[in-house]
Amino acid sequence: MMSTSADPTPATEARELLSRRFLRGSLLGEREAAFLAAAEIQLPEPPPLDAPTLERATAMVEPVTSHLMKNLPDPESFPGSALRLMELVDNPDVQVNQLIGLVSQDPAVSATILRCANSAFYARGGAVQNLAGAVRRLGLREVARIATGVASRSLYDVGVRVEFAMFGARWGSLFHEALTCGFLSGWLSTERRTGDSSRAFLGGMFHHIGKSIALRSVAALKMDGKLPPDILDLEIDLVLEQIHIEIGVDLMSLWSLPSYLMTICEHHHDDAVDGSKPNEADVVRLCAGLYELSKGPCVDPGIPQSVAGSARLLRMEPPQLKAAAAKAAELGGQVSSMFSV
Ligand SMILES: [Fe+2]
Repeated sequence: MMSTSADPTPATEARELLSRRFLRGSLLGEREAAFLAAAEIQLPEPPPLDAPTLERATAMVEPVTSHLMKNLPDPESFPGSALRLMELVDNPDVQVNQLIGLVSQDPAVSATILRCANSAFYARGGAVQNLAGAVRRLGLREVARIATGVASRSLYDVGVRVEFAMFGARWGSLFHEALTCGFLSGWLSTERRTGDSSRAFLGGMFHHIGKSIALRSVAALKMDGKLPPDILDLEIDLVLEQIHIEIGVDLMSLWSLPSYLMTICEHHHDDAVDGSKPNEADVVRLCAGLYELSKGPCVDPGIPQSVAGSARLLRMEPPQLKAAAAKAAELGGQVSSMFSV
């Protein structure tokens, strides 16, 4: 579990943790560098991280963690419709009527499904008028995934307008990341015949949920004047990067989400283990890393090595990794268009 205010992480320890993780320089081995170059994966420049930035980020870790522990989401706060949809996504015997019955209860979800079915990405023939038509066009599994994405949206914002306005773009990009990584992981799992594609989808969708919930505490503390008013984006990146795995696993436990999601969340920054049997966690690690690299500077210098190692574990050759990066860009565009994010 995370440290609480009664058991604060000493500043020196936090500083050491941050330094060890973010100032370690590139970990990319020669073999992996050559692999990424052959796949035409562009490696972004590292962020301009210096000692004062690290010091300010270090000072934020304990207050943010402490605030979060005192303001944990309600165990019932995970969107109920998303939970029920997740069960359907994970059920190989799901029936069309079950899915339509559930989706039709939520107008926002229904409207997005119809918009997707009639979008340029899927539209074939005449306009789809109802959910049954959308299922025929998109397929049962795709409809269930899109519905899960929409139903989860409340996890990527806060109800308070002023706090949302403070980090609106950041919440939007976290939601975009969740959806893109979810769809990309589902796709790659099928392509590589690795693990269960629905579990990979959900793993990609929720692997960074800790960042979104921790951001609520950053916003609340900033509102209360308890964080520097001139706080830098990079400092927030560092804090969220440092605490998001532990928080994500704790939240998943609080919400009683399936244990395989906790495993994926817990290990999505691990190094790929050569020779191990690849599974959904390896798929999500690769997809999350590709997404990070496509965004620009990565605060975690281990991402390129992690992407190359995961690709090799999944027995991908450079052209296949290049195709996965292209798919990530394509899905990112689709997500922006279909989910207005
Ligand atoms: Fe992460």
